[in-house]
Amino acid sequence: MKIDLQKKNILVTGSSRGIGAAISKELGKSGARIAIHYKRERQSAEEIAKIIGNNSKVFKANLQDPDQCELLFKSVLKEFGHIDAIVNNAGTAILSPLNNENWVKEWDKTMSINLRAVGILCKLAIQHFKTRKSGRIINIASRAAFRGDTAEYLAYAASKAGVVSLSKSIARAFGKDGITCFVVAPGWVKTDMANESIQEYGDEYILQGNSLDRLTEPEDIAPIVTLLASGLADHATGTTIDINAASYVH
Ligand SMILES: NC(=O)c1ccc[n+]([C@@H]2O[C@H](COP(=O)([O-])OP(=O)(O)OC[C@H]3O[C@@H](n4cnc5c(N)ncnc54)[C@H](OP(=O)(O)O)[C@@H]3O)[C@@H](O)[C@H]2O)c1
Repeated sequence: MKIDLQKKNILVTGSSRGIGAAISKELGKSGARIAIHYKRERQSAEEIAKIIGNNSKVFKANLQDPDQCELLFKSVLKEFGHIDAIVNNAGTAILSPLNNENWVKEWDKTMSINLRAVGILCKLAIQHFKTRKSGRIINIASRAAFRGDTAEYLAYAASKAGVVSLSKSIARAFGKDGITCFVVAPGWVKTDMANESIQEYGDEYILQGNSLDRLTEPEDIAPIVTLLASGLADHATGTTIDINAASYVH
C-alpha cells in the first residue's frame, strides 16, 4: 500500500508539539504540504515546518477565540489556495477539581478550545469541501470520551464526547458531498499534556493499565491519521479508531 499525499494541503491544529507535530511530520513524509498551526510555540512550529519541507507554513491562532478560528482557516486558504483535509488536534486538559473557584471559567475554556473551535473549523471545512466535492476531517478526541475521566477532568471528557458526536453527524450528513469524517481517540500519550500525570503516577502505574509493554508515543498515533487522510479508508467514515494500547476496550 502506497500513500501519496503530494499536492495535498492539510491543516493540522496544535502541531507545534506533541501529537500534532508527529502527525504533521508523518503526513509530510507522504508528500503533503502542511499548515502548521500553533498558539505560543512559534519557534517549534517553524522548526517542524523546516523538517517537513513541501513548502509547509506556520499559522498562529488562539482557538479559544472564535474569530481567530475563522481567521486561521481563511489565512490557510488564502496562502494554499485550497485545503484537502483538516486534522483538529489542538486541545487542552485543565485540572479543575469541584471546589475550584474558577470551575465554570475553566469549563468554558475547555469547551471553547476542545469543542467549539473544532465545531467552527469543521463548519468552515465543510463549506469549503462542498465546493470541491471532496475533503477529509480527522478529529482527535480521547479515550475519556467513552470511558469518562477523573473528578478533576469532567469538562475534558465531556468536550471530547462532544467531538465524537459532532464527527458522527458530519460523517452521516455530508458523505454525499464527498466529505468524510473520522475520530482518533488516544489513551495516555507521552506529551507535555500527559507529562504532569505521568510524573505524578509514574510510567509503571500507567503501564499497568496498558496491554503493551511501553507507553504510547505521538509517533504511534501519526500513521493511522495518515491512512485516514489518504482516502484509503473513506468507507470507515464516522468511525472512531482507538489508540490506547487496549487500556479501554469498548
Ligand atoms: N497526551 C495525551 O495523553 C492525550 C490523550 C488523549 C487525547 N489527547 C488529545 O490529543 C491532542 C493533542 O494533545 P497533546 O498531548 O499533543 O497536547 P500538547 O503536547 O499539550 O500540545 C497541545 C497543542 O495544542 C495547542 N493549543 C493548546 N491550547 C491552544 C489554544 N487555546 N489555541 C490554539 N492552540 C492551542 C498547543 O499550541 P502551543 O504549543 O503553541 O501552545 C499545542 O500545539 C489534544 O486534543 C488532546 O486532548 C492527548
